Amino acid sequence: MTEAIMLVGGQGTRLRPLTTHTPKPMLPVAGVPFIAHQLARAAAAGVTRVVLATSYLAEVFEEHFADGSPYGIELVYLTEVEPLGTGGAIRNAAAGLTCGPDEPVLIFNGDILSGLDIAGLRDGHVAAGADVTLHLTRVEDPRAFGLVPTDEDGRVLEFLEKPETPEQIVTDQINAGCYVFTRSVIDRIPAGRPVSVERETFPELLQTGALVRGVVDTSYWLDLGTPAAFVRGSADLVLGKVDSPAVPGPTGDALLLDGATVDRGAVLSCGTVVAAGAVVRAGAIVEGSVVLPGATIGADAFVKDSIVGAYATIGARTSLDGAVIGDGATVEADNELPNGIRIACGVLLPVGAVRTTAGPGGCPAGQSTAAAVHGSVLQQ
Ligand code: GDD
Ligand code: MG
Repeated sequence: MTEAIMLVGGQGTRLRPLTTHTPKPMLPVAGVPFIAHQLARAAAAGVTRVVLATSYLAEVFEEHFADGSPYGIELVYLTEVEPLGTGGAIRNAAAGLTCGPDEPVLIFNGDILSGLDIAGLRDGHVAAGADVTLHLTRVEDPRAFGLVPTDEDGRVLEFLEKPETPEQIVTDQINAGCYVFTRSVIDRIPAGRPVSVERETFPELLQTGALVRGVVDTSYWLDLGTPAAFVRGSADLVLGKVDSPAVPGPTGDALLLDGATVDRGAVLSCGTVVAAGAVVRAGAIVEGSVVLPGATIGADAFVKDSIVGAYATIGARTSLDGAVIGDGATVEADNELPNGIRIACGVLLPVGAVRTTAGPGGCPAGQSTAAAVHGSVLQQ
């Protein structure tokens, strides 16, 4: 039996306005709440019990997953009244563990999609008698992550969270957000106050000579913390670029969930997901996007690499590229939204209010967007 802690208490700031009503790990990815994929992969690796470390919108998790029995895994919830940071959350969640001090405990950031061999990471940790083992991956631009240089034996030399100067970029190996901790190491994290595992716990462990190992893995890896990564992760699951036992139903170029209505004259591709109660009308082209429950995509609309929130409406001939449309927002017909725009929940953008290029009925993006913003449209 292996136990795990999943960190799911962050505010998902970079995914606003999607995370206004739904915590990031509960946003639907390839048709199910994101952490359903992580839980299914953990269960497949022999994890039998998971403590969910919740804080922001904590109740949403238990309402959906209950005690975990329908998912074949035992779930326990430990909620921080005030967020305790990643290390504080791990320490707080330890109250829900039942294993002994020498047992390995898996810890997952709640926003990572990966093809990691979880059982292999745990077994390697036990075989090495390590205090902590970190899953590492290599990325082109490591600045948004924790940098983790290792020696030739895989021993971690340093932990540099979110480096600020070019001199600090000493490696392309980053913390991939999955760890194995020996239980007694968790119990030594200070209780009852905020602690960052990245900025405080890891550096302290290294200073005191603990055996901290890093295992570089080359399989699929993505942090779903930004809108672009979120749509890519969902599409990659649909396209089978990464496996998850939790993807519902057959997929191909797109995933249509039960209760979705797609006109035969619409074209869905590049891993698009259309959720229950959503409608896609004739002539619409939807590429690599996530259309959430109850949303409507109008006739001849063009939606690319975008997230359309629950019960949002995209009007006829409107085009979106890399957009995030908040729940219940309406973008009426004949709008051409600039790449990367975010529309707040419930906002109404009238017919032809935003045109990226000048044209009949429209005006250059700068002016028209400014007019539409008016305190309620968020733009990146
Ligand atoms: N319970 C709880 N309480 N959870 C939290 C808290 C908290 O106070 N703060 C953050 N979390 C959770 C988030 O919900 C998320 O699942 C996880 O901890 C990591 O937080 P992020 O906000 O996503 O961090 P990040 O992506 O900037 O950086 C982290 O992940 C990178 C890999 O994607 C760090 O661990 C980096 O070192 C790492 O490279
Ligand atoms: Mg993250």
